[in-house]
Amino acid sequence: MSMPLAYFDTHWHKIVFIIREEHSGDESAIHEVTIDAFRHAEHSSGTEATIVQELRQSTALEVSLVATLDGVIRGHVAFSRITINGHYIGWYGLGPLSVHHMLHRQGIGQSLVKEGLQRLCSLGAAGCVVLGDPAFYKRFGFRNDEELRLVGVPPTHFMVLSLNNNPIPCGTVAYHEAFSTN
Ligand SMILES: CC(C)(COP(=O)(O)OP(=O)(O)OC[C@H]1O[C@@H](n2cnc3c(N)ncnc32)[C@H](O)[C@@H]1OP(=O)(O)O)[C@@H](O)C(=O)NCCC(=O)NCCS
Repeated sequence: MSMPLAYFDTHWHKIVFIIREEHSGDESAIHEVTIDAFRHAEHSSGTEATIVQELRQSTALEVSLVATLDGVIRGHVAFSRITINGHYIGWYGLGPLSVHHMLHRQGIGQSLVKEGLQRLCSLGAAGCVVLGDPAFYKRFGFRNDEELRLVGVPPTHFMVLSLNNNPIPCGTVAYHEAFSTN
């Protein structure tokens, strides 16, 4: 059984949650929390829960963390390998990221991202990209970069973060084929 990565106590709300790695038996709870989070999201493809399943089935969930409250999974984040100009060079994509809609704005999403990025660093990752709201992701150091692109998305919402002092490469990003699910 994996050990918790971290405990968090948001004092003002008196909730305590644990971030830990996904383990066997978590699959359906992760599915449910992903559906719940994106059902209430402003922008959703409706395929996020399927993407997580397909990443798992393809053994492409390189980092998969859950946030639990009282032993119940209430948040999840996935990281998978990306390619740049067709090659894997140590870069990863963050997402989907999900927090149960009743528990937003209590620090769970930020904690999942921070722990996930630390985990990537310890795996020796060269960097991470994300497609999402800059207002949320820039706090972790993600920024726009003209040289590293994802085709077909608003450039303002596609962000990059170098890890372990690696340079940001030039090129075109491709996520795992699970993200092409319709
Ligand atoms: C985005 C999401 C994961 C954030 O999780 P959370 O636990 O509510 O976030 P936290 O409590 O850790 O962070 C709250 C901070 O993020 C900001 N924030 C939260 N959701 C945001 C969003 N969608 N856009 C911009 N900022 C957001 C809050 O304003 C708050 O900022 P502050 O600390 O400056 O006050 C959650 O809202 C969610 O599951 N949304 C639906 C799914 C989704 O959109 N996933 C991300 C896709 S890229």
